[in-house]
Amino acid sequence: MENNREIIRLENVSKTFDLRYHKTLRAVDNVSLSLHKGICTAIVGESGCGKSTLARMVTLLEPVTDGMIYYKNEPIGGMQNGRNIALRGEKLREYRRNVQMIFQDPANVFSPRMKIGTFLMEPWIHFEKKSKKEAREMAYYSLKRVYLGEEYFDKYPHQLSGGELQQIAIARAIALHPEVLICDEATSALDVSIQQEIMALLKEHQDETNYAILFISHDLALVENFSQQVVVMYLGRIVEIMNGAAFRMHARHPYTKALLGSVFSIYDDPDKDIYVLEGEAQSPTGEIKGCVFCNRCSQAKDICRQEAPVLKPIRTGHQVACHFA
Ligand SMILES: Nc1ncnc2c1ncn2[C@@H]1O[C@H](COP(=O)(O)OP(=O)(O)OP(=O)(O)O)[C@@H](O)[C@H]1O
Ligand SMILES: [Mg+2]
Repeated sequence: MENNREIIRLENVSKTFDLRYHKTLRAVDNVSLSLHKGICTAIVGESGCGKSTLARMVTLLEPVTDGMIYYKNEPIGGMQNGRNIALRGEKLREYRRNVQMIFQDPANVFSPRMKIGTFLMEPWIHFEKKSKKEAREMAYYSLKRVYLGEEYFDKYPHQLSGGELQQIAIARAIALHPEVLICDEATSALDVSIQQEIMALLKEHQDETNYAILFISHDLALVENFSQQVVVMYLGRIVEIMNGAAFRMHARHPYTKALLGSVFSIYDDPDKDIYVLEGEAQSPTGEIKGCVFCNRCSQAKDICRQEAPVLKPIRTGHQVACHFA
């Protein structure tokens, strides 16, 4: 399969949650996005902007409320001509094998009574029909790949730290060479030296297998280093999509600029004022009129409060949803 080939496409995908008192929360709002082979697409944005919900829809753990997700051009989840499309049976199993996710909170992934070794053997037995002996060898290899010794094989999840659990989750996710790897804050529980080793491992693995990565992170330096495409989300909507390398230099949306302005660096002058985004975010349960960011944007004009800006290309690979970009 050639590089850059589109593997997954989201077309106008939305997710709403019904809350109490007949309120509806828009977690993801009309998002269109493609994941390509060999390309790392990062999603950044503040807490609650819908990153994990988007990832869970791509892995088909969360049903889509509106719009459609395509896998190699086949509709696999969403609404089409008023019909609900959902993968089932063998096709769903195959999809789950090919699209792996590393979750934000590793502790929820493990069953407390299952040994780490059994957890690592499972995909080999379940998907590859390997014998227990072969699966055990593969599990030892998986441990080695994430810099953990064979003694971890017989441990239980509660005997491991959060960082070690995440290393195990990563080992299992990449074991069967998935086509798509979704990393939801996958490295935030790791200390910086292990984080560096794991990022190097993911990169090396990507060079070997050319998988597509959806990389969700609050760490903008990591995003800039690691991804070829950056998607900036605000209140469930995409406000900017751009080339990863140009991220810092070319960001045009006022929210992206604000996000970049709020990053701390060890080289900062300690007396420097801490940048705080002024104003209150609009409520995800209310009606959003105009631009999602207008009541926190220092450049907002009347049109921003009345008309929602659409994502428009401003150069190759760069789209911005701002009336004044
Ligand atoms: N099952 C659910 N029921 C109701 N609301 C939900 C549910 N899951 C998520 N939400 C809401 O949807 C919005 C998006 O949540 P999500 O977890 O996707 O955010 P996020 O961008 O991943 O945030 P973080 O950076 O903190 O992980 C939030 O307002 C959240 O409260
Ligand atoms: Mg999240």
